[in-house]
Formats: sequence, structure tokens, C-alpha cells
Amino acid sequence: MTINEIPQSLIDRLRRARRVVFATGAGISAESGVPTFRGEGGIWNKMRPEELASVDGFMRNPNLVWEWYQHRRDLMSKVAPNPGHHAIAAFEKHFPDAVVITQNIDGLHRRAGSTRILELHGNISRNKCFDCGRLYEREIDPDAELPHCGCGGMIRPDVVWFGEMLPHDILQAAFEASEAAEVFLSVGTSAVVQPAASLPLVAARRGACLVEVNVEPTPLTPVADVFLQGKSGEILPLLLERFEARKRQIVAGDGTT
Ligand code: OAD
Repeated sequence: MTINEIPQSLIDRLRRARRVVFATGAGISAESGVPTFRGEGGIWNKMRPEELASVDGFMRNPNLVWEWYQHRRDLMSKVAPNPGHHAIAAFEKHFPDAVVITQNIDGLHRRAGSTRILELHGNISRNKCFDCGRLYEREIDPDAELPHCGCGGMIRPDVVWFGEMLPHDILQAAFEASEAAEVFLSVGTSAVVQPAASLPLVAARRGACLVEVNVEPTPLTPVADVFLQGKSGEILPLLLERFEARKRQIVAGDGTT
């Protein structure tokens, strides 16, 4: 995609908007080197989510689950935000009310400089007590005896597993931001995992302009007002550049409104 293929109507809509939501999935971090879950090279093609990302799996074999999360933690500590994350953070200068809603647990939006982030599925850098929910930052050695909380509960990664509820306050804030959004951008997600997959639909029903950025169509594509096909690390910087150019044009007084 080239900069000129971004519809002018989208730039105009963004220019009029105050409340913009960026809802991201694993695809936005793919160009940083974090594997996605589905599609070619996807984690769930090789690994079994019921063993590694479920309460039952953890109860059956906590060391295996810790080994897997420690491996992913090591990987994520070595990667850096890419131009897609940076473009979203830069959009915050133009939209002080912008919200990032992410299914990712890698912390890359924060590292890129975004400040209003709702992490729907938790964050891999944190641990918590299974029973009382107390947070722990310490590293876990999967080969040693696994630590327990003062209350006796087992310590686990602070991420959401299959079959678990999402953190209530964060989910509620995500629905509120989606309902209020004037422009809602769904970026790098297969749009199949609930409840995250409902958020763009809620936004569209309330009249938001729905934009999808993805390398391939998803179940959301037929509903989207604009589908920008390509890598988010390429498209989002182009969108930002085109938006900023239009703003400069208007400030200079040679833009028609
Ligand atoms: P998926 O792996 O399901 O989907 C990744 C999406 O990103 C796909 O639609 C790809 O086409 C797209 N994609 C890949 N590379 C891209 C790029 N460079 N630019 C733009 N798009 C790209 O990941 P999610 O939708 O995030 O949940 O998965 C949702 C949830 O399923 C995850 O949070 C995880 C998983 O099971 C939990 O662990 C609870």
C-alpha cells in the first residue's frame, strides 16, 4: 500500500475526531519478532493451548507452564517496539483521549510511549497469586521449587487463560471507550477471540468509522468501513504521515474543509 491509497475520507474523519481507539492483536507485534497465535507460523499450530494456557493445564503441570512462559518472557525481553507501535504512540499527541485496547501481553505499546492502555489479557512481566490475586514482580525459575504466596496460593503469570474471565474493570473501560469512539481501528488481530472481537462491532453500532489494518481479510473485514491491507508497521506510519500532512496544510490555510 502507498500513502496515496489511504482514503482522503478517512483522513477527514480522523481530523474531525477526538475519541479514537486503537484495538490491537498479535499482528502488531509480529514485525518486532513476537510470533502470532494463528496463521502461518502461529503458536497454536505447534502448541496446545489447553496444556499451556488454561487453569487445568497449570494445575496438571505448573513447571511446564512456567517453562513456556519463561521462554516467552525471555523472547519478549529481547524485542523492541516497531514503527506500528510508535505510530500509535505518536497519534496520542493529536488525540489526547486516544485509547489503546490490546490483547497482547508483551508490553510493547507502553515501551513505545502510549499511556492510555487497556491490557485485556494481562501482562507477561507480572505474576499473581492464584488464590488472593496479590501481584508479584519476581522472576520464576521453572526448574526450582515453585514459589507460593504468603496466603499459600500458587503463583502464576498475570495473564488471562482460556476459559477465564477478563479483568472486569479493564473490560468495562474497553467497552466504554469502544462505545464512545468516533474512529475505531482494529489492528493485527484475527478478530475471532471474544470478548475482544465484540468491541469493533459495538463501536460500529454506535456510529464509529471502523478501520481494519491487517495483512489479510478477517471476519471483521466485511463490516469495516475501510480495510487497509498490509503490515501495520508500514501502514500506521503512512496513516500518521498523511494525517499530519493534512493538519499542516490546514494550519497553513491552504486546505479546504
Ligand atoms: P492471532 O494470531 O489470532 O491473529 C494475528 C492477526 O494478525 C492475523 O489476522 C494476521 O493476519 C495479522 N497479522 C500478522 N502479521 C501482521 C502484520 N505485520 N501487520 C498486520 N497484521 C498482521 O492473534 P490475536 O487476534 O491477537 O489470547 O489473538 C487473540 C488471542 O488469541 C490472543 O490474545 C491469545 C490467543 O489465544 C490469549 O492468550 C487469552
